[in-house]
Amino acid sequence: MRSNIILAAAIARMASAAPAPQMFDFAAVLEAPSPSVTGPPQTAVANATSIYSVDTASLASVISSQVTSAVTASITGASASAASTELPTSSALQKRSAISTVPTTASTTTTQGQSSTLTSSSSTACPTTPEAGTYCGFINPEDPCAPQPDGYGPKVVPDTPAAFSAYPAFQANANSAVTPANYDLVFKDLNAATSANSYLGFYTLKTYDVNGCANHCDTTNLCTAFNIYIERDPSLNPTANGDSSNSTGGYCPDPSSITNYKCSLWGASIDATSATNTGQGRLNFTTVVVASNGYDKTNHTTPVAPPAYDPPKNCTGGAISAGGNYWLGSTFYPGPFNPTVCGIYAQAQVALNKQTAKAKGASCYTPVNMFNAYTIHKNGVAQGTYCSIFNTVLSPAYSGFRGAWSGNEFFGVRQSWAFSLSAQDSGNW
Ligand SMILES: *[C@@H]1O[C@H](CO)[C@@H](O)[C@H](O)[C@H]1NC(C)=O
Ligand SMILES: *[C@@H]1O[C@H](CO)[C@@H](O)[C@H](O)[C@H]1NC(C)=O
Ligand SMILES: *[C@@H]1O[C@H](CO)[C@@H](O)[C@H](O)[C@H]1NC(C)=O
Ligand SMILES: *[C@@H]1O[C@H](CO)[C@@H](O)[C@H](O)[C@H]1NC(C)=O
Ligand SMILES: *[C@@H]1O[C@H](CO)[C@@H](O)[C@H](O)[C@H]1NC(C)=O
Repeated sequence: MRSNIILAAAIARMASAAPAPQMFDFAAVLEAPSPSVTGPPQTAVANATSIYSVDTASLASVISSQVTSAVTASITGASASAASTELPTSSALQKRSAISTVPTTASTTTTQGQSSTLTSSSSTACPTTPEAGTYCGFINPEDPCAPQPDGYGPKVVPDTPAAFSAYPAFQANANSAVTPANYDLVFKDLNAATSANSYLGFYTLKTYDVNGCANHCDTTNLCTAFNIYIERDPSLNPTANGDSSNSTGGYCPDPSSITNYKCSLWGASIDATSATNTGQGRLNFTTVVVASNGYDKTNHTTPVAPPAYDPPKNCTGGAISAGGNYWLGSTFYPGPFNPTVCGIYAQAQVALNKQTAKAKGASCYTPVNMFNAYTIHKNGVAQGTYCSIFNTVLSPAYSGFRGAWSGNEFFGVRQSWAFSLSAQDSGNW
């Protein structure tokens, strides 16, 4: 009990003592290109879904190519190893100010796009080689005025956006839904769907099946949240070639509607802030989103450690922004929360440190023994994975940075975890 009180005090002191984290690089977050897909597509709502999958090999080659300089920490060797048992209030932290004027010496901060891919899941593979110009041998839903797939929900009469929005059964679906075990309900019955960099893919469902959607999330790598909603979609692909007197080439700017149950999956926490997609116009057709519920298990999920790392420790205080004397660099990867990218970055950095030390004939190299991975949420919406690497294992008590303002945008830290190598690297050959 007593030691808990001391720890809490240490965290509080550190949080207030570190208002300007020397290691948070706004530019890295601001300049990183967003993934090209941040939510389910508006067109072709087939039960054909693309689920985010991480191509570790190509990710590793991209990250390695971006790690271009060897780095060192300002506390190294035996003194660095001792840090694992120290708290940030110890001498190591006092020395932190010494490095604050030269923060970039250890920096290898880079930005990059996603080097993971959206690949079709096996459930959507065509059973046979499809005929050219068709979709799995059927009509291509992207053709002019092609019938659109699915649409398992009721047909709303009259067929207008207003009647769809007001349809009582949809609100009843949202309001009577039971929250699946291990999830928290984070929003209910909104008229907007989630949109964020942490998008993983979507499914269409036959009913407002919250448990079915949870099951899709539970079986999808990196998924920690889902959004289920009902969408008014066009029955035909809206097209306006020619006009109503000449329909050659397709003329159906405002087809009748169908009702889709959609289930989208997310690789970071969601809340009402990220529910911003209220539907669009497609020519004269109006897409409408209703009965949108969000469920989140991010707080109940311990991320999987990359190979060679111990199970991670929860940095409940936020990001590790002290520990500057042990810090080797940081980088940011837009997309879902994926500590694997931080592990790859750590490996790429130590490989370069070794190579550089060897070339110089040095007797040791700077190891990378720990990384801190967390998500950055801009004004509440998940942006991607921020990684900081360290030459030694620091206690989670070093974590105290919860976020910072840049202009009127708040960059908040969530789900922060510390990963350390199971076998510590001494840096000696
Ligand atoms: C979508 O495809 C999966 C796998 O083929 C199937 O189990 C599911 O029933 C389909 N969903 C709908 C709504 O057709
Ligand atoms: C009908 O519309 C098509 C496609 O826009 C166009 O190519 C064709 O010339 C039009 N025919 C007539 C008779 O206007
Ligand atoms: C579609 O919208 C345009 C522009 O608002 C309008 O001129 C046209 O009459 C509409 N067509 C249909 C079929 O509703
Ligand atoms: C990690 O810590 C955060 C902040 O205290 C907490 O909300 C979350 O539930 C913890 N995660 C797990 C998996 O225990
Ligand atoms: C998760 O934990 C954080 C920190 O304790 C808290 O602010 C947030 O509201 C929690 N999320 C949910 C869905 O309960």
